[in-house]
Amino acid sequence: MTAPVRLAEPTSVRVALAERSYDIVIGRNLLPQLGSSIAALRPGAAAAIVTDETVARHHLAAAEASLADAGMRTARVVVPAGEASKSWPVLERICNGLLAEKIERRDLVVALGGGVVGDLAGFAAAVTRRGLDVVQVPTTLLAQVDSSVGGKTGINAAQGKNLIGAFHQPVLVLADTTLLDTLPPREFRAGYAEVAKYGLINDAAFFAWLEANWRDVFAGGPARDQAIAVSCRAKASIVGRDERETGDRQLLNLGHTFGHAFEAAAGFSDRLLHGEAVALGIALAYGFSAELGLLPQADADRATAHLAAVGLPTRVSDLRDAPGIDRLMELMAQDKKVKGGKLTFILARGIGQSFVAADIDAGAVRAYLAARLEG
Ligand SMILES: NC(=O)c1ccc[n+]([C@@H]2O[C@H](COP(=O)([O-])OP(=O)(O)OC[C@H]3O[C@@H](n4cnc5c(N)ncnc54)[C@H](O)[C@@H]3O)[C@@H](O)[C@H]2O)c1
Ligand SMILES: [Zn+2]
Repeated sequence: MTAPVRLAEPTSVRVALAERSYDIVIGRNLLPQLGSSIAALRPGAAAAIVTDETVARHHLAAAEASLADAGMRTARVVVPAGEASKSWPVLERICNGLLAEKIERRDLVVALGGGVVGDLAGFAAAVTRRGLDVVQVPTTLLAQVDSSVGGKTGINAAQGKNLIGAFHQPVLVLADTTLLDTLPPREFRAGYAEVAKYGLINDAAFFAWLEANWRDVFAGGPARDQAIAVSCRAKASIVGRDERETGDRQLLNLGHTFGHAFEAAAGFSDRLLHGEAVALGIALAYGFSAELGLLPQADADRATAHLAAVGLPTRVSDLRDAPGIDRLMELMAQDKKVKGGKLTFILARGIGQSFVAADIDAGAVRAYLAARLEG
């Protein structure tokens, strides 16, 4: 695990992308500083908050008060909560709302919410007036450790998830970890799959730390902040090396090729949350690596045991209704990580030793999955 995180004050992680570099600020009770942070970055700017109805109930008043205290003109666009909002009609509503509120090129969009709001508001900012700056204020664990960082924005198409979008890096990410206190436990647990993922990708010491400290991460306080900060450092480092996912950034897809297929089969609904699908996908990716003789079985068992200990699904039998093998293979083939008939998987040689395997034979995957579906 990289250098210890100081916990008494907010931690700042730099995403180094030349003229598009920005800070991720992580800490407790940061929302009251949102206005002054933005005012320091863009003196005189107005800010339009985009949020969803659920987050608005909990945190919009505090966000608006903070902006008003800093003397900023504010506007708001509130959309329905849920994945269905990542659509053309809701995007159009947001863009029109920004224009109606006279948000100009020098003003800002504030994405206050989980990954849905972050992706939507980020994309609206990317295309309105040919590009407005966006500040991400993530309110789910998934958004704080993953989706608010790295600049991927977008909406879903009939053909699949996240197929319409743009790279649009934020100018600031403000991760107030106390906002997670209102998050339903199931959502927190799902986000934790992405935290564990960083350990399993390339930080064995972090994974061991999580095995020892996950209860404190769930309880809140310093361990939670530390887990979020280490996760953000990991993502920032990968994004800094490979902003557009031509190489290393693919490692972030650990568990996602298997996971997406199960998520799609469940209709991207709350039958199976994204992080839950990722946990199952990681367990399958580690198991598959062991089956291929790349990884000691004990390491696959260890990765799986940790995810299961926090209450995440790790076996196909943990799902209420699993899809059949034909449907699963079809969904995996539709996934954008397929090139020339071969499947790209993130596999592992050890805990914290994941790698991109671009040439995996679909037949081997099918045999492995079919056995899991029967078992
Ligand atoms: N851009 C990226 O790099 C990236 C990465 C991973 C995932 N994503 C996207 O993120 C989305 C999933 O994000 P998510 O898991 O945050 O889902 P989400 O945004 O739908 O939030 C989950 C639920 O929690 C509610 N909520 C959010 N914050 C809350 C809080 N503090 N208190 C109480 N309730 C709260 C929301 O209203 C929603 O009902 C997917 O659309 C996925 O495609 C994007
Ligand atoms: Zn994910």
